[in-house]
Amino acid sequence: MRDLTPNRAELDPIEIASIDEIRSLQLQRLKWSLRHAYDNVAMYKARFDAAGVHPDDLQELSDLAKFPFTTKGDLRDAYPFGMFAVPREQILRLHASSGTTGKPTVVGYTQKDIDTWADLLARSLRASGLRRGDMVHNAYGYGLFTGGLGAHYGIERLGATVVPMSGGQTEKQVTLIEDFRPDGIMVTPSYMLNILEQYHRMGIDPRSSSLKVGVFGAEPWTDAMRREVEAAFDMHAVDIYGLSEIMGPGVANECVETKDGPVIWEDHFLPEIIDPETGAVLPDGELGELVFTTLTKEGLPMVRYRTRDLTRLLPGTARSMRRMAKITGRSDDMIILRGVNVFPSQIEEQMLTVEALAPYYQIELVSKGRMDAMRIHVEVLPAATAPEQRATCTAQLAKRIKDIVGISAEILVGDPGSVERSQGKARRVVDNRVKG
Ligand code: DLL
Repeated sequence: MRDLTPNRAELDPIEIASIDEIRSLQLQRLKWSLRHAYDNVAMYKARFDAAGVHPDDLQELSDLAKFPFTTKGDLRDAYPFGMFAVPREQILRLHASSGTTGKPTVVGYTQKDIDTWADLLARSLRASGLRRGDMVHNAYGYGLFTGGLGAHYGIERLGATVVPMSGGQTEKQVTLIEDFRPDGIMVTPSYMLNILEQYHRMGIDPRSSSLKVGVFGAEPWTDAMRREVEAAFDMHAVDIYGLSEIMGPGVANECVETKDGPVIWEDHFLPEIIDPETGAVLPDGELGELVFTTLTKEGLPMVRYRTRDLTRLLPGTARSMRRMAKITGRSDDMIILRGVNVFPSQIEEQMLTVEALAPYYQIELVSKGRMDAMRIHVEVLPAATAPEQRATCTAQLAKRIKDIVGISAEILVGDPGSVERSQGKARRVVDNRVKG
């Protein structure tokens, strides 16, 4: 793999500013943002008043802990535009997040918000090792999802050529990558595996592809998956993080030279880690729920938004700003099976250690009598379909999950191609438990 470390002179100066400079910019911007939210969004005024706090009470960054949290439920209650802080006419773009139940959450951007987003995405791509003049294949879905259009404008802002492919049509994805010879690809990690499989189906060696770097996000993925994709394509795989409520992709992005967790673009988003049970702020380094306050957003300012993502804040390395560790799960997609907390990523980690298995899986939760049980659907590689090979994989995976994750799961090893393929975000958990 080529060394793609960006030249320091190309970085935004704030990326490598002193911590003092960053904190002082954050404080100044946070004062503005709290005031903007309070003055222009009825929900924030009511919440702050009820909690007995006022934007003037913020004298230092740690005073933020006195302010109330905001949740996805608040956005849903204000559906569709009730939390916008500017008149609707000043909102130039709407997106909606793929809500799991009920109504989606709608987010809106002013011209300045769209500009900031493009700038931060361009910064993220530079951190990933891409630069002006490169070509980027964008396979994030276009539409209400923030992935496609968010990445699109960032690629253009960087001065690179964008291929606006969107998701789906896997064979065409491979054909275009082969014909256009892009330098980078932006796609969900699960869909990248689908593309990899298509390479094999078409008899093309993925190592011969033009791709130098993949910018993968929108769902949790593991270092084991990073190693697998890097080896298969002979390219760098970096992590991009974001969420619609805060902006979209590009809230944080990993640096290609360190690959040690996404750097949070702290000049625009102030992170905190809280105990998801008590709401108490935890020190850097401790595992908890990630909370963001936007510092510059006009259309939809977010004060202490609870992401439900579980991670840790880590000190800066390649940049001065803090990093986040890979997300271990969400405080709300955690599976509790007979008292044991299980994250889909833990199952994935173990599955990837069994050599004869393809990197696809789906967890099914079922009822066995009055107990919950877990079934894990996996599939063998085409070269390992003999009955004894299947039996070995089943036993190996069951043992690893028992030993390392601490639960007994039923393993169902299917034929190649039998596990549902992702067209975007993979559906990792299917809940077929009897309710009630
Ligand atoms: O998924 C934005 C995005 C698009 C990020 C493309 C990166 C690339 P939402 O649909 O609102 O926005 O979903 C946000 O997805 O709270 C996390 O749970 C999860 N997520 C996003 N990026 C990562 C990542 C987009 N790199 C939710 N690792 C977030 C793990 C991620 N989880």
